[in-house]
Amino acid sequence: SAHALAAQEGERQRIARELHDEIGQSLTVVLLGLKRAADRAPDDLREELHTVQETVRSSLDEVRQVARRLRPGVLEDLGLQSALSALSSDFSAVSGVPVTRRVDPGLPALSGDVELVLYRIAQESLTNVARHARATRVELSLTAQAGDLTLRITDDGRGGALQEGAGIRGMRERALLIGARLTLASAPGGGTDVRLVIPDAAERS
Ligand SMILES: Nc1ncnc2c1ncn2[C@@H]1O[C@H](COP(=O)(O)OP(=O)(O)OP(=O)(O)O)[C@@H](O)[C@H]1O
Ligand SMILES: [Mg+2]
Repeated sequence: SAHALAAQEGERQRIARELHDEIGQSLTVVLLGLKRAADRAPDDLREELHTVQETVRSSLDEVRQVARRLRPGVLEDLGLQSALSALSSDFSAVSGVPVTRRVDPGLPALSGDVELVLYRIAQESLTNVARHARATRVELSLTAQAGDLTLRITDDGRGGALQEGAGIRGMRERALLIGARLTLASAPGGGTDVRLVIPDAAERS
């Protein structure tokens, strides 16, 4: 059932992302096109174009609402810090590997998009540790320095060259979505270090 839930969650997330990014983006383009057309249209037509504009605008709002509803409830219910803490204890309970967590107090307020990316990358990294690393310890930290926010997940497992699969590709896509940098370092025998740096995180809340 954990797998089924994870699959369902992943699917919801994918749909939410597509709704928000693809359809939201297309509708925004339509809206801008309509505005340009309305600006140059003769009076009788302008009225009609404004009506269409309003319809598109409310569709855009609906799309965003649906996307928001599809987001993981745990983030909304608990907030990022508690959601990360729940993620860590679930991971430890399943894998038997303890997680040392360090979250800076007084992190800047973050937008929902940024929180979701942080949560998902932490989630995939821990899943990878459980599946591939044979680690005995994991560290998860979320720290702020000079406006940059850094999420790090390190393990002391077997490391080794990472053949990037769908999991890591997904992390890269998510990082890209919010203009963050994702780096993975994994030396054979030297554990794995996943690092996400969000520049100027405070300014995008
Ligand atoms: N913490 C880790 N320790 C050791 N190897 C890792 C670790 N994380 C990832 N890997 C290696 O990198 C590969 C790619 O990871 P990725 O998450 O992209 O795919 P996956 O976990 O195999 O499958 P999925 O697409 O379901 O996530 C893994 O198959 C594994 O060999
Ligand atoms: Mg994976």
